[in-house]
Amino acid sequence: MAQINPSILSADFARLAEEAKAVEGADWLHVDVMDNHFVPNLTLGVPIVEALSKATDTPLDCHLMIEDADRWAPQYVEAGAGSVTFHAEAAAAPVRLAREIRAKGARASMALKPATPIEPYEDLLPELDMLLIMTVEPGFGGQAFLDIMLPKIRRTRELISKHGLELWLQVDGGVSATTIERCAEAGADVFVAGSAVYGAADPAAAVRDLRALADV
Ligand code: DX5
Ligand code: ZN
Repeated sequence: MAQINPSILSADFARLAEEAKAVEGADWLHVDVMDNHFVPNLTLGVPIVEALSKATDTPLDCHLMIEDADRWAPQYVEAGAGSVTFHAEAAAAPVRLAREIRAKGARASMALKPATPIEPYEDLLPELDMLLIMTVEPGFGGQAFLDIMLPKIRRTRELISKHGLELWLQVDGGVSATTIERCAEAGADVFVAGSAVYGAADPAAAVRDLRALADV
């Protein structure tokens, strides 16, 4: 079944605990960590992830858009994240890092910016629990979905099948009721949605609607 991960980037940061509770029933809560170096925006860090993990029963899916991922990612596992995604472009030793995240007890995930191809990372897939294909340039919520990413999603799904792997394939950026079916048909099974969930009058209903559309 498709998993829907609301992104708190589109929530009210002054009411994070309530905003997290508003989407209980979602599979994971997506937490965008930005450092103003890897992306031109700054959001939150380890202390807020730690507080949020205590404030909700929904497991946290931390998406690290930060440099020096090798140094920081393990700290997000310690802060309570159930899944930690580092960017391929920001990790010096991705295999070692994925193993460290798993050894500390979280799911290990790697993200690719739109211009980063999947092919050089084929051999690394068995080390991962999830691969994230960005469908916008990382940094901001509310951007338009990049349709040109669909062939990359399809190719990645083929590689996962070819190797008989269980890893999840996540998409993030511009995912909404109008784009989610395309992503699902291309092979994605975990969907991040920020503005489509928190911009809705009823965020919990938006999660249910997206899940119904994604179950192809
Ligand atoms: C963007 C973030 C996304 C963002 C998605 O860099 O990684 O998770 O919150 O927001 P929407 O769903 O509004 O495109
Ligand atoms: Zn994200």
